Amino acid sequence: MAVAGERAGRPAGPGPGCREEPFSPSVLGTREHWDAAYERELQTFEDIGDAGEIWFGEESMVRIIRWLEKQQIPLDSSVLDIGTGNGVLLVELAKSGYTDLTGIDYSPSAIQLSEKVREKEGMSNIKFKVEDFLAPSAELSGFEICIDKGTFDAISLNPDNAVGKRKQYVRSLCSVLKPEGFFLITSCNWTKEELLNEFREGFEILEELPTPKFCFGGRIGNSVTALVFQRKKLRPSILDKLD
Ligand SMILES: C[S@@+](CC[C@H](N)C(=O)[O-])C[C@H]1O[C@@H](n2cnc3c(N)ncnc32)[C@H](O)[C@@H]1O
Repeated sequence: MAVAGERAGRPAGPGPGCREEPFSPSVLGTREHWDAAYERELQTFEDIGDAGEIWFGEESMVRIIRWLEKQQIPLDSSVLDIGTGNGVLLVELAKSGYTDLTGIDYSPSAIQLSEKVREKEGMSNIKFKVEDFLAPSAELSGFEICIDKGTFDAISLNPDNAVGKRKQYVRSLCSVLKPEGFFLITSCNWTKEELLNEFREGFEILEELPTPKFCFGGRIGNSVTALVFQRKKLRPSILDKLD
């Protein structure tokens, strides 16, 4: 499997922020692909108890947990994992003491798998729910932290109107994350500059988290980008319009 670690389907093109369609569409952007993938992983879990792929490796979870700990984010903060897959990140957060954890995924087999992993690990307080993040239910709101590991990447590869889906992703994020809440994204398809452009409306960058570097042709780059954004405060003029 690979979205992780590769910049999937990226054709040559002009510089960051200039492309409307930066990637070739791929099955990795479809629900059918993820349903089939997690159906297989569910079977493997039942056969041998293996939770399956950890996207971007264990270090990607350590990086997120370290940041939360460094910022002394209270352990009862509400955390949403967008496109949780097998839910292992939330299990690790629960092991680190976080108590208000929710994972959503549009693939019912991913949620089935994450519930089984939760059961095996004895972390019954983690909430999992089948939800399409591009059409979030009203109850999905007020989160203090949102985390995305590979889901914005997958959505960006959707063969059907990926540009519109990326815009909807940003709208959904604004509706589920509290003003001044934190958004931690790990991506292998987008560079830092491109992500800054994608999330420029309503978010400001707080920090780039260190990821492994590679050297190619004398230039140094990262194959994975990990950023922390903060949702901007609602301006009084916007609040007036919402009243
Ligand atoms: C690359 S996998 C990453 C899984 C998990 N975050 C991890 O790090 O292991 C992308 C995940 O996003 C989910 N996904 C893609 N589009 C989604 C959407 N619109 N709403 C909810 N989940 C989505 C897929 O089902 C899949 O579980």
